[in-house]
Amino acid sequence: MVTVNIKEKEWQEGVYDRICAKMDATVERNRHKIPYTAENGVFNDMSEKDPTWWTNGFWGGILWQLYHATGKELYRETAEELEDKLDQCLMNHKGMDHDSGFRWLPTSVVNYRLTGNERSYNRARLAADNMAGRFNPAGHFIRAWNDWGDGQKTGWAIIDCMMNLPLLYWAYEQIEDPRYLQIATAHADMAMKCFIRPDGSAKHIVEFDPATGEYVCSHGGQGYGHGSSWTRGQAWALYGFTLSYIHTKNPEYLACAKRVANYFLVNTPDSNLVPVDFRQPADCTLEDSTAAAIAACGLLEIAKCVEGREQDIYHDAAVALLYTLDTERCDWDVNRDSIVQKCTAAFHDEKHEFPIIYGDYYFIEAIWKLTGREIFIW
Ligand code: GLY
Repeated sequence: MVTVNIKEKEWQEGVYDRICAKMDATVERNRHKIPYTAENGVFNDMSEKDPTWWTNGFWGGILWQLYHATGKELYRETAEELEDKLDQCLMNHKGMDHDSGFRWLPTSVVNYRLTGNERSYNRARLAADNMAGRFNPAGHFIRAWNDWGDGQKTGWAIIDCMMNLPLLYWAYEQIEDPRYLQIATAHADMAMKCFIRPDGSAKHIVEFDPATGEYVCSHGGQGYGHGSSWTRGQAWALYGFTLSYIHTKNPEYLACAKRVANYFLVNTPDSNLVPVDFRQPADCTLEDSTAAAIAACGLLEIAKCVEGREQDIYHDAAVALLYTLDTERCDWDVNRDSIVQKCTAAFHDEKHEFPIIYGDYYFIEAIWKLTGREIFIW
């Protein structure tokens, strides 16, 4: 990775203006959708296709960040319409998995925080209880997914779950029942031990024996393969351990986040464009812009938790990732939906390098952090 030499304040405000112009037009066109991706510049709609899909909260996060920054009622109304639709997931046990944080922190929790909406509070509490119910006390992990007919996933935990833990921290902060904190920190401690390798890289999936809690093996998951280093997983770990530090002040979590961050920065190529897996074959050029945007958010938070020269290192690295996305991977045409391009869901999927809604969400969140406009969602 290389840092960039720019007039930072001017650039930040320029990106903020571009996001507002683009999203004004985009939200008008897509008020009743739940977007996941865009095809030929048009958002798709998960409302019918899969109202339980794990990414369905990010549209809400975008809308609440926009509402917080601009006060425009259209954004709040659209976010509330989406939140109502998520009840189809909350009332469907097959749709409820560990991703309750991704679904209800950027929707119900933020709505409650900003407006005091009691229906939102109720939803968020139910979602937190469901997530806590996935905890396996023998292995100290939160079960990730349900079974999809392709084998038992009862003993599977994934690194992404670090980003869901703040829903449990939120529930703990609401009612001071220590069980939420105990479950979140038990999972975070397990993840530090079982997912993070000595070099700071992270495994995607760890399988435990669900009856005894014994470690069985790891799986490459959405990355290149066993022993590889899926970049979005590294970004979830980087930001997720930082969040656990922010909520608990346990310095071990910050040290772990820094270890993952340092690994991420050392392995990011000089183009500042992030591959799908840091260990994919050298001749493979596949990228995942979401990893860059998520990592930038985490790096900006780490920069606030450290002192002196370290602050600049993490801040400047985040700016370099975001500047590169802005200038090389963002579509600023207001007639086309979706901002961040070249996102990849999984290395071995048939399709790669397309727009994904959480690429836009984390890019916007990072720019909001830089310009002081963020409502902190996690
Ligand atoms: N949490 C699933 C993913 O990052 O693709």
